[in-house]
Amino acid sequence: MKTTRTLTRALALFLTLGASLASAAAVAAEPAIRHLAKRNVWLINLAGSQYALGLTKEKELVHLWWGAKLPAGDYERGVVARIPVRSGFPEAVERYELPPWGGAHQIEPALKLRFADGVRDLRLAYAAHEVVGENELVINLADPHYPLQVAVHYRAHPRFDVLERWVVLKNTGSQPIDIEQALSAAWHLPLHERWTFRYLAGFWGAETQVRDVELQHGKFQIESRRGATSHQFNPWFAVRPTGETAEEQGEVWFGSLAWSGCWKIAAEVTSNGRLQVLGGIHDFDFSWRLAAGESFTTPAFVGGYANEGMGGVSRRLTAYQLAAVLPQPQAGQLRPVIYNSWYATEFSVNAAQQIALAEKAKLLGVELFVMDDGWFGQRKDARAGLGDWTPNAEKFPQGLKPLTDAVHGLGMKFGLWVEPEMVNPDSDLYRAHPDWVFHFPTRPRTQKRHQMMLNFARAEVREHIFQVLDRLLTDSPIDFIKWDMNRHVTEAGWMEAPAEQQREVLVRHVRAVYEIFDRLRARHPQVLWETCSGGGARVDLGIFQRTDQAWASDNTDPLDRLQIQEGYTQAYAPKTMVAWVTDNPDTINKRDTPLTFRFHCAMMGALGVGGNLLKWSEAEMSQTRFWVETYKAIRPLVQEGQLYRLRSPRTSAFSAAEYAAADGSAAVVFAFLQASSMGKPTPPLALRGLTPEAVYQVEAIVPPGVTAPLAPHQASGAALMAQGLTLKLRGDYASALVRLTRLP
Ligand code: GLA
Repeated sequence: MKTTRTLTRALALFLTLGASLASAAAVAAEPAIRHLAKRNVWLINLAGSQYALGLTKEKELVHLWWGAKLPAGDYERGVVARIPVRSGFPEAVERYELPPWGGAHQIEPALKLRFADGVRDLRLAYAAHEVVGENELVINLADPHYPLQVAVHYRAHPRFDVLERWVVLKNTGSQPIDIEQALSAAWHLPLHERWTFRYLAGFWGAETQVRDVELQHGKFQIESRRGATSHQFNPWFAVRPTGETAEEQGEVWFGSLAWSGCWKIAAEVTSNGRLQVLGGIHDFDFSWRLAAGESFTTPAFVGGYANEGMGGVSRRLTAYQLAAVLPQPQAGQLRPVIYNSWYATEFSVNAAQQIALAEKAKLLGVELFVMDDGWFGQRKDARAGLGDWTPNAEKFPQGLKPLTDAVHGLGMKFGLWVEPEMVNPDSDLYRAHPDWVFHFPTRPRTQKRHQMMLNFARAEVREHIFQVLDRLLTDSPIDFIKWDMNRHVTEAGWMEAPAEQQREVLVRHVRAVYEIFDRLRARHPQVLWETCSGGGARVDLGIFQRTDQAWASDNTDPLDRLQIQEGYTQAYAPKTMVAWVTDNPDTINKRDTPLTFRFHCAMMGALGVGGNLLKWSEAEMSQTRFWVETYKAIRPLVQEGQLYRLRSPRTSAFSAAEYAAADGSAAVVFAFLQASSMGKPTPPLALRGLTPEAVYQVEAIVPPGVTAPLAPHQASGAALMAQGLTLKLRGDYASALVRLTRLP
């Protein structure tokens, strides 16, 4: 027996090592970008996928392939590019890599322009290409008649099967060009009879809910016209052949936009049965005057391919975000356990009460104490104060110092809430500068939550806000900022700008927000930033280049959160997802749930505690201490491990997710039973990502004196993945946390 097992292990080791060495060698031997000059084909090789482009006889750039890896020989033989790609024919027109509006192109274009002489027909042909470093390909296109250059950029992230695409438009002439539409990319999918499009939809308190829709002939579009990312749709998609629904199997193509303003993603099935997915800055209420010599750079549209179902998509996106999107070095650091005062105190904060909360938070093991709304200006409720970012003199007679000293004295970091893009009409800032908000002079200024939005397209406005925030961070020792945005744009007027530039305003605003973040990060590199927009309405790859984590939703009901979090982690790294334990009943559904259930749910992201600790019993405090300590022990797995969704909370009252170390050395499993029914036992959970031939110590983590849903035991990875883990869960809101440790 023993010899057999040793042999099996050796064989498995050889196979694993052999396979990974072979693929490493393949990756190493093969440059990410390859130009097959004879056929005018460019290949972008990623770890498990391939992307290919070519030219028609008329030198139009067309898409050839995106999917599983194919031998270069097939391109040489013309097998992949076998469809005659001639200009003007649907085969070519529907495969333009960056479709211009012009000629025979009559489906959704990426580019639509107006030249100075009034011509609105755009033609693009290959001019040159360049390989930058090892992983970036730039293909330069030019209009044959007009002085316009279009650089199509591809940056490959081979390890994650992810490709960033963006476009730079350059006016090389002496007359202005008006851009009416400039999407970042068109993704062309291989031919399939039927496609299902997955997206994330919602509203306030109900963000990132997973939706699947089968595409029909025509266009299906998700978008935001609100000047920000939005609660309604998140700029992410995944498509797979209809009928393929396995979580861990099957081909999936996906994309994610790095933009926090108005955006759209349009999936169009043509009458020839081709699917193209375009996306970028929304062309709705947009135009951009490109003056002589100027360039316009679109945000990136990130695309990827996975052949391990939706699980493969999420793990790729998570790894990509940690390595290439989130700010470094924070991306590689573990997120702290937070306390935030919002749910406990709302607007009625003061120094003594916040210090009292901080003292309690410290006892729980909290590492970062954040004071939310209510600390500044004349802020007593939502009606006043936004815009006046100095401490309220009644609540903080000695400024923030006593509080920051107390929090730091307790050994915690200190964080603060701000909402820099906003003013209340009842604020000193608005009284001094009523013209600084978005407005049209002849129209009433719509208020939402009693507030209006500052127009950062105006240089003096964005400079003022930068100065105010810079001073705040310079004057007080602040380690963390939660940047909120509680309303979106209405009356997007910028009437003092020249008429032909007024519809640039929403793009300029977002670029200004990014610029302020970038300047503040450069000047205060120690500060950690959280993006919030009435919950999760500004979560996207653009904001994640500048913020470290996100307030995923204002909804803290754990039952709803399971679904919101399932949606969030389709597209974004669990490390960025701040998740809260708040008081019973929750504020949205008025539901009471056990503290353990709330903790298990919130421990699946970056853990935050938000209850009114001044009212907590000793029993609640000691349970919380236990869970915070447990969270710290498993935090590397949750924040940096591989997420496997074992059972979806959308389809079953019993759901579970596993976070495993990439090397299979450890894992944790969270399981949730909403309500027992008919006394039925919960079905076994077949785990993932373990080493089949290794043996694991399996134990449920429970506070002292609580009955465990499973007896500690040992089992092989093979058994845990095939036969699965069986938990004894009964009752309402029952949950479990199981730890698996590989034995040496
Ligand atoms: C928004 C946020 C909350 C809180 C309040 C403060 O609703 O989503 O978390 O910060 O604003 O007013």
